[in-house]
Amino acid sequence: MHVVEFRKVSKSYTAGKIELPVLHDLSFGIDAGKFVVLLGPSGSGKSTLLNLVGGLDLPTQGDILVCGEDIGRMSDDALTRFRGAHVGFIFQSFNLIPVLTAAENVEYPLLNTSMPADRRKRRVKRLLAAVGLEARANHLPGELSGGQRQRVAIARALVRKPKLVIADEPTANLDSRTTASILDLMRHIQRQYGISFLLASHDARVMREADVTIHLLDGSIRQIETTRDADASVPPAPPPASSGLAP
Ligand SMILES: Nc1ncnc2c1ncn2[C@@H]1O[C@H](COP(=O)(O)OP(=O)(O)OP(=O)(O)O)[C@@H](O)[C@H]1O
Ligand SMILES: [Mg+2]
Repeated sequence: MHVVEFRKVSKSYTAGKIELPVLHDLSFGIDAGKFVVLLGPSGSGKSTLLNLVGGLDLPTQGDILVCGEDIGRMSDDALTRFRGAHVGFIFQSFNLIPVLTAAENVEYPLLNTSMPADRRKRRVKRLLAAVGLEARANHLPGELSGGQRQRVAIARALVRKPKLVIADEPTANLDSRTTASILDLMRHIQRQYGISFLLASHDARVMREADVTIHLLDGSIRQIETTRDADASVPPAPPPASSGLAP
């Protein structure tokens, strides 16, 4: 099953009267449950592609299927609901809400669901523990290190149990030790729960973790490479009862 499928997708931006083509007629599929790294020089269209997958922007042409559903055919409301239920986002600059604590940031995507408060609190607590931040639950983002902020952002991305996590340069603002621990954490989550990850990066350490590498150059796909033998990876296990992702 493809978690993401592009069918003849093009994207142009318009600046005044000038049309700037950015992605050119892309057709490809990404298998579910993989750690996929989108690689390409600055300006090649990585963020543009991720924004399309996440339904944050619309293609100029073509169809995009996420978890088998054509996101271009959804109403705005349906797309917002679909995104909330199936896709988690992690950003380079963490994008936490500065006036909310770590726990409140993680809880935030659950506030517009029908989940009762006690269940919400329990899930947030488990997730903060899963990312190693139980002791920082009541800290504001400004009171956390960069790596800790990114852990909060990862917990927030997972809180609604998405099928796909999209991350745009998630380690670009982190030092190399913190990058390694954030990568380990994402890799662990991807393997343990079978969640698909799609990350844009230029970082060699991120590349080394990829099951699949998509090489983007000037808005075209040069190559899709299986960089890690599927048999060598641990098969996805059901979430243990104590994990942040258990029901
Ligand atoms: N909102 C926009 N309006 C006009 N042009 C844009 C817009 N966003 C991106 N572009 C242009 O699209 C091209 C691709 O940009 P994009 O941000 O997708 O690249 P990227 O691969 O993510 O680069 P980086 O590695 O620097 O983040 C660039 O030439 C950029 O200038
Ligand atoms: Mg970018």
